[in-house]
Amino acid sequence: MKYSAPRGTVDILPEECEKWEKLERILRTVASNYHVKEMRTPIFEHTELFNRAVGDTSDVVTKEMYTFEDRKGRSMTLRPEGTAGIARAYVENKMYARPEKLTKVFYMGPMFRYERPQSGRQRQFHQFGVEMLGIESPYVDVECMMMAITIVKALGLKNITLHINSLGDEESRDAFRAALQDHFRPVLGELCSDCQTRFDKNPLRILDCKVDADHPSMKTAPKTIDYLTESAKAHFDKVCELLDMLEVDYVIDTNLVRGLDYYSHTVFEIISDDPKLGAGSTVGGGGRYNGLIEEIGGPSTPGVGFAFGLERLMIALGDEDEDSQGIEAYVMPLGDEAKDVAMQIVMMLRANGFSVDTDYAGRGLKGQFKSADRFKAAYSIILGEDEVKGEYVQLRDNSTKEQKQVAFEDIVKELEKGLGL
Ligand code: HAM
Repeated sequence: MKYSAPRGTVDILPEECEKWEKLERILRTVASNYHVKEMRTPIFEHTELFNRAVGDTSDVVTKEMYTFEDRKGRSMTLRPEGTAGIARAYVENKMYARPEKLTKVFYMGPMFRYERPQSGRQRQFHQFGVEMLGIESPYVDVECMMMAITIVKALGLKNITLHINSLGDEESRDAFRAALQDHFRPVLGELCSDCQTRFDKNPLRILDCKVDADHPSMKTAPKTIDYLTESAKAHFDKVCELLDMLEVDYVIDTNLVRGLDYYSHTVFEIISDDPKLGAGSTVGGGGRYNGLIEEIGGPSTPGVGFAFGLERLMIALGDEDEDSQGIEAYVMPLGDEAKDVAMQIVMMLRANGFSVDTDYAGRGLKGQFKSADRFKAAYSIILGEDEVKGEYVQLRDNSTKEQKQVAFEDIVKELEKGLGL
């Protein structure tokens, strides 16, 4: 029997992990730059949380969740996104009662959606997400957008556009919902069966439908921003004004409604025109969700956030041949006698903080030199029968190819000198 990874999942091999680590490092640096702290929540939650938070009219909840019963018959779901878990933890840990009104957190990790796999779309994928909870202010919306933009800039991504829209507050959305129903009612019979269900439950979702995207009624559909209440419009205008002030290019995209049900007011997406991803592909998105915390049983608390798909960032980053980090020394035992001493030297060097490897395959000098080369070892430490007896090694600088005899007790000192530590 041969096993393969489940459809829609991938193995990230050691060579690729270096690139992942680099990406994660950049994300952490930007997070620290924006004073956003990491938070970690469980990978599975009670299914009810996602039904409530993400919304039972969203595709994510109705079609894409990995849901299972645990041994006690409780319904659990592998998280399809990160906001619901953070919101639950925020309430459960009473983070709203902290002295600092605005809580800013980020998370990074695997998410699960049962989708049709393709480039940049997997069933297990990774997100880097940010949530800012506690203050309803256009400044915080813009803080979020600026952080997302700083990330794509730090990664050197090109052909990126910020799309924004506003869904408004509850009153705006009620008015918009009624307008949408009036608009689609006459053509309802021509729309897909999902849209017919959406019509009653959440007509906003119709605008997001992939099946009916080309139906003529989509082009003439009402626009959210025409239904904003005065205060919702003032919020959105201020967001635009701040983006202008900060000289950020953006597009007001009145069709942008996002796929999850919790959004209100500002929504945004970072869209890449990188051909590797397919034109118009979303690398990240988010928005404000002022009703979410209350919806799941917490005190009324505004929030705004976004998430990037790491696989998509990785594709957009491309395959420029990164020079992988080499080790500092490769210890080369020659013959059986040298093996024990080599192991002691390896462990002693590691304990002194060096990155070190050795040969356990019992190969000759040539084979071991090849490994030293592949591992980009700065130094080779050669140890044969004579060296063991005389308690010294041959220390070879692999860049200059100079080799010298060094007593066991001087190896650390010599390596430090050679590596400029
Ligand atoms: P989302 O738009 O559903 O938002 O996902 C955010 C990003 O995750 C997408 O733009 C995409 O890059 C990536 N993504 C989603 N599904 C997949 C998939 N199947 N394979 C690979 N990448 C994928 C959210 O998840 C919200 N929680 C964002 C947010 C945070 N809103 C407020 N706070």
